[in-house]
Amino acid sequence: MMIPIAKPLIGNEEISAVTEVLKSGMIAHGKEVELFEKEFCDYQCVKHGIAVSNGTVALDVALKALKIKSGDEVITTPFTFIASSNCILYQNAKPVFADIDEKTFNIDPNEVLEKINSKTKAIVAVHLYGQPADVKALREISNDHDLFLIEDAAQAHGAEFEQKKVGNFSDVSTFSFYPTKNMTTSEGGLILTNNPEIARISDLIRNHGQSEKYLHTELGHNFRMTNIQAAIGRVQLKKVESWTEKRIENAKMLSNGLKKVNGLKVPYVDKRVRHVFHQYVLKIEDDFKMSRDEFSKYLNNLGIGTGIHYPIPVNEQPIYKKLGYGSEIFKNASDAAKKVLSIPVHPSLSETELNYIIEKITEI
Ligand SMILES: Cc1ncc(COP(=O)(O)O)c(C=O)c1O
Repeated sequence: MMIPIAKPLIGNEEISAVTEVLKSGMIAHGKEVELFEKEFCDYQCVKHGIAVSNGTVALDVALKALKIKSGDEVITTPFTFIASSNCILYQNAKPVFADIDEKTFNIDPNEVLEKINSKTKAIVAVHLYGQPADVKALREISNDHDLFLIEDAAQAHGAEFEQKKVGNFSDVSTFSFYPTKNMTTSEGGLILTNNPEIARISDLIRNHGQSEKYLHTELGHNFRMTNIQAAIGRVQLKKVESWTEKRIENAKMLSNGLKKVNGLKVPYVDKRVRHVFHQYVLKIEDDFKMSRDEFSKYLNNLGIGTGIHYPIPVNEQPIYKKLGYGSEIFKNASDAAKKVLSIPVHPSLSETELNYIIEKITEI
């Protein structure tokens, strides 16, 4: 039997909610989506929410709403899922990478400062693995240099910085509800903002720029979420807090069990944040008894799922090399890409499974 690295939890309530929508016949965008938007806004304590078909288009809409365009530069992290930076390319703008902090794996505000010039328009900060980036420093930098701040919170539902939910530090933030995320709508995404104008434009862009029936005032697209997706999301939203508490507890148990293992670094948690442990990521240092690949295979053979988030920094990806990136190497991002290994932390892990994971690692 395998302990998977991620496990979406779909119960009878989700099934009934979807069945109700199917029976209603209102299966595209409608009331359920509006209710989901409102409920997700309430959860994150942000005023406006625009649900879309996935987290990638949420980022695309966010940057479009901020009017990022050709000739603009946007600073982001090289150590993330590729969507965080592709959204900049979608606007024909230029992603400019700034290295990460080696402890948190999040973008380092000091490195961001080095990259600002007259073309810089925005910063896309990613709350990697569920740990908020240093949004306080990033907000200050954005204010000082008149930049937009975007929070890519795809992995950070319910995460907090100084007791405030993510999404409250930026001009606009985005979420993903892909099945491996802390809550799901199958595919799905959402844009949050406290700015009514950004909300208005985002709402238009996700629906063909249509301000009235067949009157199109913006260049938009069909990025709509369906009632079926939203119905799943509404049920999941009721459970996400208890799941998150369980993730945090599981992470504590893993760290307590593993912190003394030579050559393994357990996740560093910034004292100012609520880390929601989308992933629990170990750093495998050179003095560990196995290479990362050997360690991963060892765990897989014992029925413990693993993942590498992420094996290649974005600027070193083949597509980015084709675009002229890759000659600049980011020391901390490259080092992390070689050393990180995610192990299971999801809320359905039993105490027996957690103890088994700890035992198998400590006995190496
Ligand atoms: C940091 C980050 N940004 C953006 C995305 C894109 O979300 P989606 O897969 O819903 O398009 C993801 C999810 O995979 C992600 O992890």
